[in-house]
Amino acid sequence: MTKIKKALAATAEAVEAELDRLLAQDGAPERRVVEAMRYATLGGGKRVRPFLVMESAGLFGVATGSAVRVAAALEMVHCYSLVHDDLPAMDDDDLRRGRPTVHRRYDEATAILAGDALLTSAFAVLSNVKTHREPGVRCELVEALSQAAGAHGMVGGQMIDLTAAQLDLDMGGVTRLQRLKTGRLIDFGCQAGAILGRSDTQRREALRGYSHDLGLAFQMIDDILDVEGNPDLLGKAVAKDEGQGKATFVSLMGVDRARAQAERLADQAIDHLGSFDERADGLRALARFVVERDH
Ligand code: IPE
Ligand code: IPE
Ligand code: MG
Ligand code: MG
Ligand code: MG
Repeated sequence: MTKIKKALAATAEAVEAELDRLLAQDGAPERRVVEAMRYATLGGGKRVRPFLVMESAGLFGVATGSAVRVAAALEMVHCYSLVHDDLPAMDDDDLRRGRPTVHRRYDEATAILAGDALLTSAFAVLSNVKTHREPGVRCELVEALSQAAGAHGMVGGQMIDLTAAQLDLDMGGVTRLQRLKTGRLIDFGCQAGAILGRSDTQRREALRGYSHDLGLAFQMIDDILDVEGNPDLLGKAVAKDEGQGKATFVSLMGVDRARAQAERLADQAIDHLGSFDERADGLRALARFVVERDH
């Protein structure tokens, strides 16, 4: 296993344990929703966003216990976005992370509620004193994640994604759509370390440059894998975007140009980290992984 795959696996294990603790099951009559939240978050996923939180926090010497809580909160929001993205009203998918989607395993109403509760639980985690002793830091995390996830962040991107067929988007339009729907949560992953570590503006801006380029490259590869990926490795259906009339980088520039552009963006992302020492090597390796991945 390559070094980056090992590092991602280690993050996956830590965040999995944290999610398991945070989403503890009990015998309450509403336990079905907790079960669905656990099903949506545990046992799968590359955990790229948690990795960004852990690595960016590592740049500033942040305690692992704080970082892993923020990583779990971000993964909750990401998983909620996947649960809702897969609903019949949205992409209508039956398979996610190699298993039936939440609305397939449970039912639509439970999937909607599990998504809602994952979103709100994330903010309960961030605002809890265990995440950081300073209320100002916790507030900043809450504000940053709500901006990244909301109407002008991930949700806004999903809204444009669903109406894209009627919008006739050009390259600038698709770039903005992808920035919002995927880029903003990836940005939060990197900013989280800077917020927890009380970073200066210069290093914050460097991380912003990195995550901007990484987020675009990440979604470009997701769009390419929808065309030429292996569904068994991906754990989700392929060849969906074209059929649903999605505006993607591939629909605009074709697979080859999209791949070349993603590789350029990964190089550019790494260039933004020039002022960091070897503690940023995990982030550098992730940029390479994102464009080389097959799932
Ligand atoms: C899939 O995200 C949805 C996008 C934003 C492209 P990931 O590819 O990170 O999915 P998991 O978490 O590994 O399942
Ligand atoms: C989803 O993008 C982005 C989210 C905000 C969840 P996609 O619809 O392309 O993600 P996949 O391909 O279903 O994982
Ligand atoms: Mg979608
Ligand atoms: Mg989808
Ligand atoms: Mg996709």
